[in-house]
Amino acid sequence: MFSLTRIIGVISGKGGVGKTTLVINLGAALASKFNKDVIIVDCNVTSSHLGLYLGMYYYPISLNQVLLGEERIDKAIYNYSIPGLRIIPASLSLNDLKGVDVAEMKKHIKQLFGSADIILLDGAPGFGREVMACIQASDEVLFVTTPYVPPMIDTIKCFNAANEIGAKPIGIVLNMCKEGRHELLSHEIEQMVELPVISQIPRDKNVLKSLASKLPVIDYNPRSKASREIMKLAAHLAGEEYKHDGFFSRISSMFRKSREPRKELLDFKLKSLTK
Ligand SMILES: Nc1ncnc2c1ncn2[C@@H]1O[C@H](COP(=O)(O)OP(=O)(O)OP(=O)(O)O)[C@@H](O)[C@H]1O
Ligand SMILES: [Mg+2]
Repeated sequence: MFSLTRIIGVISGKGGVGKTTLVINLGAALASKFNKDVIIVDCNVTSSHLGLYLGMYYYPISLNQVLLGEERIDKAIYNYSIPGLRIIPASLSLNDLKGVDVAEMKKHIKQLFGSADIILLDGAPGFGREVMACIQASDEVLFVTTPYVPPMIDTIKCFNAANEIGAKPIGIVLNMCKEGRHELLSHEIEQMVELPVISQIPRDKNVLKSLASKLPVIDYNPRSKASREIMKLAAHLAGEEYKHDGFFSRISSMFRKSREPRKELLDFKLKSLTK
């Protein structure tokens, strides 16, 4: 029995920004490097990918059967090959969506309290009932965005939704950064969303290679740039220190921070439209 289970929702508004990838890798890093018991849950029931990304295709009971009221949630937990990491997948079958009640998500997820140190919820994109149910089931929320205006506007909306629901915002994860001039910088995003950017994960082909190998990138290539950033973020969540920061990445992040916010990329009136 774990005395304090943290339930962290990973959401974005905009689709395809890296939520599932982050949930898998944070889960793997927290379990393998920081000795945490972790359960990752596929709350994207209409378009589930969590199991697929890890090569898990066949499971008799999924979150769908739980939401249909047919099974208890503890029957839908499966071990992954990394000790300490367990997964609750959602069904790949369209038939298993019939009658699914996402409003029941919070009730079932809360039953996991005490069975892990950290539970990571892989949220659906958009602002529909599915993602709202995921935020409602979360105590804390991590926002994922890529460094461009449209996903950042969706992050502001997610932040507002989380605030209304009463889930505590942890911070923003800026994913797939390429450090191009056209990208928003972390301090520009922080000004707009009024939340700290706690991680900047580069666009890294190792992430795509790891997907093809059905492995977390931190396993596939632990020395890759993406893996190192994910490890730092996992350390942050675990409240521990992680020292693997090369001289050049420190210099480059100082350079990225030093530029003035650029008005051509940020229109502060946009924010009022998100209410
Ligand atoms: N840092 C990265 N570098 C390169 N590719 C990445 C990175 N992060 C994610 N990707 C790739 O981007 C694609 C989308 O990632 P992912 O499925 O995790 O996004 P998502 O937010 O969960 O999408 P959805 O909203 O559809 O659930 C995947 O092909 C993934 O491998
Ligand atoms: Mg996803």
